[in-house]
Amino acid sequence: MQITFEGHACIRVNGSKNIIIDPFLTGNPSAVKKPSDIKADFVLVTHAHADHFGDTLEIAKNNDATIVAVNELAKYTQQQGCRAHGMNIGGKWDFNNGLKVKVTQALHSSSFENGEDCLACGEASGFLFWLDGKCLYHAGDTGLFSDMSKIIGKHEIDVAFIPIGGNYTMGPVDALTAVGWLGCKTVVPIHYNTMPLIHQDAKAFKLDVEGKLDTRCLILEPGESFEL
Ligand code: NI
Ligand code: MN
Repeated sequence: MQITFEGHACIRVNGSKNIIIDPFLTGNPSAVKKPSDIKADFVLVTHAHADHFGDTLEIAKNNDATIVAVNELAKYTQQQGCRAHGMNIGGKWDFNNGLKVKVTQALHSSSFENGEDCLACGEASGFLFWLDGKCLYHAGDTGLFSDMSKIIGKHEIDVAFIPIGGNYTMGPVDALTAVGWLGCKTVVPIHYNTMPLIHQDAKAFKLDVEGKLDTRCLILEPGESFEL
């Protein structure tokens, strides 16, 4: 399968199914694609914040794709005319077409900003998912939590997408602990350098990971892909 970093927290997985996670393209200063460029069977959304929900509705409608999200957020997208599958933390679903998804905890919030109001929309999450014999983990926005070791790390994770930006999520020090707990074969750092508040040195993080752990760290430029 081909995995592409589309900037910020957006990851595209193209295998026997086409999946996009947290498709924040419009207004994302690091994105190199437009929503109309994206082919997707599934849109996985970790939470309602605009830098993750992004172009979910447009991409789902363009492709008649299924949105997978925590129940409250899934319901909202259904009300906007999209096809959606609601889940919740700890739940796993076999889509019977090669894709399995398990929703994981994320220590974060989930809301839509509507003028001066913040409208809460269920819990923030991450996703473990299985496609074409590979196990992938997108942590979403989260602080470090020890169940990464006790629950999520029990799975044999091929690739993990982990935030390192700090301020809103884990920074590089906690992310290094997370990678050690996850024991993933490869980590791709995400959610950094899109804005000044989350500026980080990804090369220093890679040196730390590869110097201290048995994990490969892949730094991807927006639009860059690798084969898994
Ligand atoms: Ni967020
Ligand atoms: Mn975010």
